[in-house]
Amino acid sequence: MTSVFLEHSATCPLFGAVEKRVAVPGLIRPTLHLLEKKRIDQPVDFRREIHYTYYSYDTSRIVKIHILESNMIKKVGIIGCGQMGSGIAQVAAHADYRVIGNEVSEELFQKGLHRITRLLDRAIEKGKLDSPTREKILGNITGSTDFADLADCDLVIEAATEDMTTKKEIFAELDKICKPEVIFASNTSSLSIGDLASVTGRRDKFVGLHFFNPVPVMRLVEIVRTIDSSDETVAAAREFAESLGKTVVMAKDSPGFIVNVLLIPYLLDSIRQYERGLATRDDIDNAMKLGCGHPMGPLTLADFIGLDTTLFIADIMFDQFRDSHYAAPPLLRRMVNAGYLGKKSGRGFYDYNK
Ligand code: 3HC
Repeated sequence: MTSVFLEHSATCPLFGAVEKRVAVPGLIRPTLHLLEKKRIDQPVDFRREIHYTYYSYDTSRIVKIHILESNMIKKVGIIGCGQMGSGIAQVAAHADYRVIGNEVSEELFQKGLHRITRLLDRAIEKGKLDSPTREKILGNITGSTDFADLADCDLVIEAATEDMTTKKEIFAELDKICKPEVIFASNTSSLSIGDLASVTGRRDKFVGLHFFNPVPVMRLVEIVRTIDSSDETVAAAREFAESLGKTVVMAKDSPGFIVNVLLIPYLLDSIRQYERGLATRDDIDNAMKLGCGHPMGPLTLADFIGLDTTLFIADIMFDQFRDSHYAAPPLLRRMVNAGYLGKKSGRGFYDYNK
């Protein structure tokens, strides 16, 4: 049996050109034609192996070659381990990425990790997760309070406070530390991705990756593409989101993207109707739950998202569109000013301390 080296160069649409020398036993002439390129089923594995099927003219044999990819996302940095950041860390670790969760203090990182552990333990109790998988997920997550730890990540997702100045400071700092090929993504729900990218020297490697709360449950990710995001960056971001089991929709870099530009006016209108006394809180929520089949009513959902976050997004959209659809009702602003932030503060339209 003759062993030859097949030197081939194939272009992988997701990760760019892949060049390998592959030993193919039994082939006389390395004249092979690519017939089919298919991924294996498990989303976790296809990042590791891409299967190519080759056909040899001389031997009429089908040879399957497993090519180990080298140019792909393996290590993911996540800035902020709050509700969204810890959710993203959990699903990424579950999909076998090595995750570094960056927080401003060890205490805040531990809080995020505790949230993940609680959810995993609950899933084990329900028989939906086994202990080795729990250990794998937790083992894939490391904490950090220093951006320098993110230097060799392949993708950094920022899920910090919704504040343009804070986010810009984070990205400007990361840009100095991370290697040039690292992709930057923001999980912002409403701020301009293009504005955030402008503080970096890698605007082509910058996208929005907008997850939904609760991240482990909600199946959507909005990918927000700016005028500068490259095709390769968008493809890698899509590949990453899909490898987490999410469905991707593409949105323009426009305030609220797709979901929030539709959802927030609905929440604001519901609060307005409550404020003007159309119906009780419970009746408004039940009307939309039972009449329209929504999983939760709008006032519960606003509490769940956070009344401060809802107000913040509304203000940004109003500022950009100057349209009364996006104007926050006075009740919402008064509640936020009084510290009624929804579920996270224990009090919003509902009292969660009871
Ligand atoms: N984290 C992780 N998992 C959670 C969770 C959480 N915070 N809350 C609930 N779950 C899981 C439960 O463990 C359960 O899992 P299982 O089916 O495997 O047992 C499943 O979700 C269903 O939970 P429950 O039976 O306790 O309760 P519900 O049936 O009411 O579901 C819900 C909870 C999934 C949150 C559902 O009410 C829902 O879909 N609500 C709407 C959520 C929504 O609209 N999110 C988008 C907000 S907008 C946003 O995030 C964008 C931002 O930019 C503002």
